Amino acid sequence: MNKKLKIFLISLIIIILLSVIIITTLKLLKNNQNNEETSSYSATAVTIMKELNLYDEINNKAYSKTIEVLLENNNLEPQYLDEYYQINYTNITNFSTIINNLLAKNYNSDEINYITKNMIDDINILLSMNYIDILAFKDISNFDINNIDRYLNYQEENKDYDLATVVTYVNIGLDKEGYSEYTEYTEEEAQNDLTILVNKYHKLPDDYEPNDLVALSYNSNYYLRKEAADAFERLTNAGVLEGVIFYPFSPYRSYKTQEVLYNRYVARDGVKAADTYSARPGFSEHQLGLAVDVRSSNLPDNLTPEHYEWMLNNSYKYGFIVRYPKGCQHITQFIEEPWHLRYLGVELATKVHDSGLTYDEYYDLYIKETQD
Ligand code: DAL
Ligand code: ZN
Repeated sequence: MNKKLKIFLISLIIIILLSVIIITTLKLLKNNQNNEETSSYSATAVTIMKELNLYDEINNKAYSKTIEVLLENNNLEPQYLDEYYQINYTNITNFSTIINNLLAKNYNSDEINYITKNMIDDINILLSMNYIDILAFKDISNFDINNIDRYLNYQEENKDYDLATVVTYVNIGLDKEGYSEYTEYTEEEAQNDLTILVNKYHKLPDDYEPNDLVALSYNSNYYLRKEAADAFERLTNAGVLEGVIFYPFSPYRSYKTQEVLYNRYVARDGVKAADTYSARPGFSEHQLGLAVDVRSSNLPDNLTPEHYEWMLNNSYKYGFIVRYPKGCQHITQFIEEPWHLRYLGVELATKVHDSGLTYDEYYDLYIKETQD
């Protein structure tokens, strides 16, 4: 081999060796950059994603805080990777386990985003149940997660009701027999709150008596609470001015009086019938001192249709509503009583009148929550 060829070969080997060294070094540098410098994820997250063989897949996509937190907690489940990208991170305790639990129950990312944003206080209830179509309830302001099983059962039994109606009716208690379950107000609540709802699901204490009963000018044995009595005088006077003359015939009734009345009706008509028109003792608005029955002069026990019409259209201006209107027995649990007025104050009575709802519904939708 001549000298020139030798030199050429040695140079070639050196060049090849140098090239190999340079290429390897560059590759190493590049890998290094990929792994630690170009990843937007924390070092802990990167370590876990490598263990899961998801490094490239995750880093080829936009950064996701949700993914990072799941990785950092070592809770990332590869089968949910696509969903994770649609889930907004929220700063809640146990975020990653909650997400995985909801995904395992088949909630989709829209539902999960809604739940983590709006329902986190109720998360344990949701996690204890099978999947429910939670977004169907999202615009129903009086939806109460604690009643979810009852809503679903009631809906099954009343397929023609829309979901909002189902929610309100169940909240009122209508999925249960009247009087079978009820809450009882305290003496203080009854004294201090003129707006309380009394029905077959809300009872007054047996010995409750309003502390500001005053006699009505019509009859010194007829009482209402002061505010209601004054308003009733205004209502009566307004009626007189318009030729609508009516009289009170049953205002405040004590628990005892209601008991005597109810028992008399039961003896006459039986419990089932009596329960459609007379409240059991403790469950009557008359015990509140805020209800009054009225009648027209020429009828012993009722209002003329004209007076009833006038009452429906005018009593609210003086603070009274017709409490048991026509066609509402399935809600109020009492047959139509044109004569029974309930005092709520002008502002609230006007709102209830304008809503077209029964007081049972109105109370559940607009009053209950603000008092809890
Ligand atoms: N008649 C009504 C419902 C009452 O007894 O209070
Ligand atoms: Zn009445």
